[in-house]
Formats: sequence, structure tokens, C-alpha cells
Amino acid sequence: MTKLIKSIVLALLVLICFVSQALGEIIGSVQTFQDMGNGIELNCTNAYLSIELITPEIARVRVGVKRPGAESRYLEDFSYAIREDLPKIKSSYKVKDNGKSILLSTTAIDVVISKNPVLLTFLDKEGFCLSEDFSPMSWLPAPEGQSVTCTKSLSYGEHFYGLGEKTGPLDKRRSKCVMWNTGEYGDDIRSDPLYQSHPFFIGLKENKAYGIFFDNTYRTHFDMGHTFEDRYIFRSEGGELDYYFIAGPLVKDVVKRFSFLTGYMPLPPIWALGHMICRWSYYPETEVMDIARRARAEEIPLDVIWLDIHYMDGYRCFTWDKSRFPDLSGMVSKLHAMGYKVVSMINPGIKADPRYFVFKEGIQRDAFVKYPHGGLYIGKVWPKECVFPDFTRLDVRKWWGSLYNGLLEAGIDGFWNDMNEPDIFHPQTGTMDDNAVFNDFGLNSSHKKIHNVYGSYMAKATLEGISRLMGKKRAFVLSRAGYSGLQRYAASWTGDNTSNFDHLRLQIPMFLNMGLSGTPFIGSDIGGFFKSASAELLVRWYQASSLVPLMREHNCRGEYDQEPWVHGDPYKSFIRKYINMRYRLLPYLYTCFYEASKDGSPIMRPLLYEYQQDSNTFTLDDQFLIGRDILVAPVLQEGAVRRLVYLPKGNWYDYETKDVLEGNRSMYYDAPLSMLPVFIKEGAILPTKEPGLYTTEKSIETITLEIFPLQTRDSSTSILYMDDGVTKDSPFVLFEFDMKKTENNLCIEFTRKGAFDGIKSFDVKVYSGPPRKVIIDNEETEFRYEDGVIYLTTTKDVKLVELIY
Ligand code: GLC
Repeated sequence: MTKLIKSIVLALLVLICFVSQALGEIIGSVQTFQDMGNGIELNCTNAYLSIELITPEIARVRVGVKRPGAESRYLEDFSYAIREDLPKIKSSYKVKDNGKSILLSTTAIDVVISKNPVLLTFLDKEGFCLSEDFSPMSWLPAPEGQSVTCTKSLSYGEHFYGLGEKTGPLDKRRSKCVMWNTGEYGDDIRSDPLYQSHPFFIGLKENKAYGIFFDNTYRTHFDMGHTFEDRYIFRSEGGELDYYFIAGPLVKDVVKRFSFLTGYMPLPPIWALGHMICRWSYYPETEVMDIARRARAEEIPLDVIWLDIHYMDGYRCFTWDKSRFPDLSGMVSKLHAMGYKVVSMINPGIKADPRYFVFKEGIQRDAFVKYPHGGLYIGKVWPKECVFPDFTRLDVRKWWGSLYNGLLEAGIDGFWNDMNEPDIFHPQTGTMDDNAVFNDFGLNSSHKKIHNVYGSYMAKATLEGISRLMGKKRAFVLSRAGYSGLQRYAASWTGDNTSNFDHLRLQIPMFLNMGLSGTPFIGSDIGGFFKSASAELLVRWYQASSLVPLMREHNCRGEYDQEPWVHGDPYKSFIRKYINMRYRLLPYLYTCFYEASKDGSPIMRPLLYEYQQDSNTFTLDDQFLIGRDILVAPVLQEGAVRRLVYLPKGNWYDYETKDVLEGNRSMYYDAPLSMLPVFIKEGAILPTKEPGLYTTEKSIETITLEIFPLQTRDSSTSILYMDDGVTKDSPFVLFEFDMKKTENNLCIEFTRKGAFDGIKSFDVKVYSGPPRKVIIDNEETEFRYEDGVIYLTTTKDVKLVELIY
């Protein structure tokens, strides 16, 4: 009998164990807590919970599951995303035990921790609940760390943005997605996951924004109210629950604070803002030179020609095919003499060929990823059997970086890191085997943990390597794969899209969410990669991309040619017009890049970024802003010759006609194939220059300031940043233009900082009726008035321009 009872009890215990394992373990209740000097740590039933204050607005939440015999409470404290030089900021805070809950408060937020069960609520200083746990944080045992889950309440009317490179609309409410870097081929417009992983989102709730960065590199899942109407969930398949709560209240604040954590894009060389063309692949040399001469003959501004994999010798990275390119450096110098730059591709897969120097060197250094038993991991990519560098190792990154020397010596100007998800021709997984081992700072972690950061760390190795070799010159790297923080190393493009209007359309919310996820330097293959673009699609794609940060046309092998001139006139003139517009607006665009490099402001912004109080902007994702003042509303539908445009509050100028349009309304706008609808915010001062056939062909000595007078507001500020566009520590100049309007008067005050003296004078164009007189620095000055434009000239030292009406 006792035996029977014992067996029943044992069976019950096994069952309880099994059920609790299946349901997972929850954090439990608070037993004790202590002040850590930078936040608090709570000793809970099943885990330690630390809430560390990074700044008064940013709190890091970590759950260290109690593991019998574990040496430390938490997993290793290293992030592949957070910048290495994150400043340590001492935030003052107060902790109060309120019996049933604990209050941790800073000058910006209150965190309420209910004790039983442990639930976190983040409030602003007005007591508004920004975010609260729906159920206790929980986990299941996983082979590496835990499979952790965090579930938060979803309010009616809450919107979500960010999550990086995802298909679908701008607002991610009711969507779900997975973060697992994936080389995607084909034309499904809903594909998920894609090439990059950005486990960061912004919640916008009654016009107040907050952000959450779930810093977990394992495969993660986000369910933003897709499965349950009242909650959203993020979870991982390994690692630890480690997230940053970032307070707003502006979306802008959240993006800047997230960028403060994950770092800023270095200012690229100015040529990287130019128009670029690519093909899989331009070869041999004669074809590259034909393209170069053709673009100049067609007077289509072009800065960069790209070399895809066929320039290599049998797909061996860091070599080139001597029959296709007998004199690579000679060709590159000819291109340089024509004003071009050349970017070439480097993939992570190294051909397993014992006669190939990179393979040999890598083997000697034990640089390649292995299986746990010590055998080399081998995967098939373009050159067939390949091995893969372990970029988590500093010595491997240094070695890899040094391999670029040969190509740099041949004159190559920048590098394109592709297939770095890593994308492997594996019929089931499309990537490496899960048990491949990476050094991971001595932790010997599996591919499951490193997969999502492999691309970022390849880009890091590339950028750091070429920066060392290039001395003072700025480097340019483009990467297909990435994790949050990638912007510190590379620009991104959205991979292998398809030539159709659906793909053109979906690029816009994708770019916008990339910008909101801290990755401002982004673009797509103009015209579409797979299939062939019709003349109409090519024109519309070029128009939509004319001010997008990265402007590169690219096309798959075997498709019809897609260069801007292939369809002849009128199409090529339509395309030329908007490439010229980009080159004219280069000083404005470069200033936007400068701002992004300083504080993470997206270059391409959703309207809600600037007009957060206007709920009409919350789901608007077929038009966008470049910087603060240029609104672009491209035509994204086949056959359409007009579209609905939403202009937020204030007056706007039609950039084509300079007509003034009232905002706070939607309007139909005629946009035949020759037209890209562009609108400029009243009060804007756009710095422009003569376009030229490449970014530096025409000097910046004279900048033309296009002035769009204030109408409904009284003041505005614009800036212009300029430097030599080439060196890392170039002197710079930063002009600030303060515009003020009174009844009969428009004044522009100029202030200047910095020693760069490339800009000598300003041509000024004011779009308004004729003034009675113009006074520059207290002296009445001559001006010309023609067709609604006032023309003036002045020097860089000007202080005050007054227009008296
Ligand atoms: C990948 C890239 C594409 C490139 C091709 C050949 O598909 O995404 O841009 O042209 O590989 O290298």
C-alpha cells in the first residue's frame, strides 16, 4: 500500500514538474531588495531582477534566473549592440518601499514594482502609464540560458513602430514577426524574417512614446497584439531577459536615446550620398568602362559603379579575375579620373581551396568556425564548399580587415558585405548548423546565439580594417545583414526585392522603420532586383528614391538592363531630372547625414516623427520627410497620374511651382510620370548647389539658399553643415539661419561656427512677392525680382538679411 502511495506521489511530482516545465517558470514574488547605487536589485522567488538606470530616461531590466551552482547571478554582461563607449551617467533616483510595491523614481520616470507577483509598470512624471506588465516575466529552460517571455498590456489605440527591416505597414500594431537574419529570395511581399534583426520597437500611446530594446541575439519573436487583443509579447529562444525601457514622450526622444545606446552612423564620404549603379555583375573591364562613359554621355549624374561577385577569381574574396580585369588598378584610376568611385563585394564564405591564400592563412590562424568536435564547419555558397571566419574574435577581425589591403591598393573605394546572415545554400535552414561554435569572447557559444550578429560583426571587421588602412580618409561599407547597432559600421540595403509596384510601395515603411530603429543610412535596389522593371516602374522607383539616403540601382543577372537610360526618352529625362534634384540638394542632404551622425535623427522620417500630435500621421506610410522640411509623396501605383497627399499643419510650398498650399488637409495632386510631388515646409531654408555629374564636380564655394518664407508661424531655424567630405577629422562649418517674420518684414539672422572655409558666398533665392527694399547687414542692397523669386548675393560673413515689404 505504502509502495502504491509512494508511486502515486512520485507520478504526481513528475507530472507537476512536467506541467510547470511546459508552462514555464515565473519570476515569483519579491523577497528582499537592495540599492545598487545605479538602480535596484530584487531578490525574487525564482530569479534576481535588476533595474539599472542608464540615464534618468533609460532603465535596463535584467532577469537572472536562479540556477543551482551558478557562479554569477546573470549571464555574461556583454552586448553586441550597445556601443562600447557608452558614457556612464550617474542618475539620481529614489527608492521607496510602499508595502505591496516598490517605487523607483528618477527625474523622468517612475518604475513601480508590484511585489507579489512581480509586475513592472513604467509611468511618466504625470502618472501616465507608458507600459505595464500584463503577466509576470517567465521562462522555460533552453539549451542556452532560457527561453524568456515578457508580456505587456496593449492599450486600445496604441501604435508600434521600429522592429527594423520588416515588411508590412509602418504601424506594427496587430502584427507579429521573428528576428532571425535570413537571405530571402523571391517576390513574397510579406516575407518574414528578412536579412536584419532589430529587436527594438517604439510604442505610441495617447501621443506619448516609449521604446523597448530587447537585447537578445537569439531568435526572438514579437507578437504586437496579433494573437491577443489586450497584450503584446516578446520572447526569445535562448539567453536572458534583458531589455531597456526608454522613455519619450516624443518619438524623437526615444529614437535619439536608443541611438545613444547603440551608437551613431559615422559621417560617410560625401560621394556615398551620390547616385550609384550596380549589376550582378558588370564585367569585363570594357563593360564597366562602357557604363562609365555612357552615364557621362547621357549627363546622368553618377558617383559610384559597383562590382558584384564576377570581378573575383572564381568567387574567391580578395582576388580578382585577371582575364576579366587584366589591370584592375589601371581601370580604377581611369574611373577616378572620370569622377567615379568603385565599390566591390566581399562575402564571408571563403572557398575551401588549399591553394587559395585566404583559406591557407585562415587555417594557419585557426580563424574559421568549427563544430564542437573540432572539425571545420563547411557550407556551400557561390564558390561551392566554403569556410567562415569567426568574427566574434578580435584577432580574426583584425586579420580579415587587413585582407582588404590588396583591393584598396588597386584603388577600390568602398566595400559591400553580402550574404552575411550568413546565407548558405542549405536546402532546409538556409544558414549554418545550429551547433557550429563561435568563440564569443571565450564563451564558445553556438550559432543560435551568434547568427543574428554575424553580419554586424563582419561589417565591424571590414570598417575597422579598412579605416586602419585608409588613414584619415572616411570609409564606406554596405552590409546586407545586421543587428541593432549596425549603423556604427555600415549602411544597409533591403536585399533582393522584385521589380513590381508592390515592392516599391513596401520599401517606404521599411526604410522608415529602419530609421526609427537607429539605422538611418538605408536604400533599396532601385528598379527591383528580380525581374525587369518597366519604363514606368523604373521612373517611379527613381523618383521615390531620389532623396532616399542610399541611392543605388541594382539588378539581378539574366534580367533586362535597368540603367536609367535603357528606356530612352522621355523616361531617361524624367529620371535625370530627379537625380539632378538630389545633386542640387546635396548640401541639405549632407546636413541631414550630419545630424544623423550626431544624434541618430533619421534622415528619412515618417510624418509622425515631426507631427506626433497629429493622429492623421500615425499610419501614414506612403509619403515621408527628408530631414524636417522636405515632404516627398511619390506615386507608388501602376498607371496612377495623381495621388492623395496629406500635408500636416502649417503652410507648404509646392517645390515644382512654389505655390503656397495650406496644410492640415489631404488633397489630390496631379503627378504624371514626369512628376514627383515634393513639398517644402514654410520657414525652411534649403541649402543647394549646382548639381554636376558627380558630387564633387561642382564646387561648394557658392551655396544657393532657397528660402521659403514663414507664413503662419513667426520663426524657424535651419542649419547647413559642410566639411571636406573626405577626411574623418575635417574642419567643418555649421551655419544657423534664424528666420523671423513680422507684418512687413522677414529677417534672416546668420550665425557661423567652425573653421572650414570651403563655402565663400551665398546666392539667395526667396520665394515671395517683391519686397520694397532689402537690407543686408544694415545696408540697403540691390536685388533682382523675377517671376515670384527675389535674387540676392552675399558673402559667407553675412549676419543679417532683412526683406522689407
Ligand atoms: C545576393 C545579393 C545581390 C547580389 C547577388 C550576387 O543575392 O543580395 O545583391 O547581386 O547576391 O552577388
